[in-house]
Amino acid sequence: MASGSGTGKVTVPGAVLGVLLFVFVLVSVWMLSTERFWFVDLASEHGASVDTVYVVVLIVTGVAFVATQLLLAFIVTRYGARNGERAAYWHENARAEAILIGGTAVTLTVLVFLGQYVWYQIYFTDPPADSMVVEVTGQQFQWVFRYPGDDGVFGNVDPALVTVTDPIGVDRSGAGADDILVVGQMHAIQNQPVLVRIRSTDVIHNFHLPHMRVKQDAVPGMTIEVGFTPTDTGEYEIACAELCGLNHFAMSGMLTVDATQAEFDQWLEDQLVFQ
Ligand code: CUA
Repeated sequence: MASGSGTGKVTVPGAVLGVLLFVFVLVSVWMLSTERFWFVDLASEHGASVDTVYVVVLIVTGVAFVATQLLLAFIVTRYGARNGERAAYWHENARAEAILIGGTAVTLTVLVFLGQYVWYQIYFTDPPADSMVVEVTGQQFQWVFRYPGDDGVFGNVDPALVTVTDPIGVDRSGAGADDILVVGQMHAIQNQPVLVRIRSTDVIHNFHLPHMRVKQDAVPGMTIEVGFTPTDTGEYEIACAELCGLNHFAMSGMLTVDATQAEFDQWLEDQLVFQ
């Protein structure tokens, strides 16, 4: 249904916009291909698959982005308005629509299943039986870590038992007698799976370990479990990734990955003495 027969012409505004779009594409490609704006170093096992999905999605959408923006730059440059002439256009083209819709549908379906597969592996696969279980409670504005002690069982918590030295209120009369509380400090062992039980005592926080590719909301009234296996020793940032109040920015902590069980035990022992 072609209508009009204009071939347009190169205009100054069109050329300027075309050049701007071209520069925009160049800068975007540079920003995504340089290390400078990339993730922090990876230090967990499952994180590699998260990064892979991210890279694949970025490449696919990047190709589409570059192609469409360059096409747009070309068209606004080449086909500026000429006098009062009408542009040639058509309303429908079954073949073009079939290709665009079909291609987009297939591409997005593949990406969705790729992402679902990784999601399933992280959230719907039983954690390894030898996982070290740690509880983390988010509260304005700190992360409180709890280790179950020698019995391997967490005691109950009760808001009525909260004191200056116990921000979550552990019931010390039962299994909680040997529970160990640490504020802002978490330790794990290299290549030993960790299962984190995430809670909150007030608002929604988000337990974020950027190097481990762990990011999970802490929701009041829920205990949400997420597992990871650190692959490298060292100290890693713990952040809160959910705007939770005035001091949200300061709600941070430090995850230390020890090389051996002995180092970890020593640290835990020190916390117990402190407690
Ligand atoms: Cu807790 Cu932001």
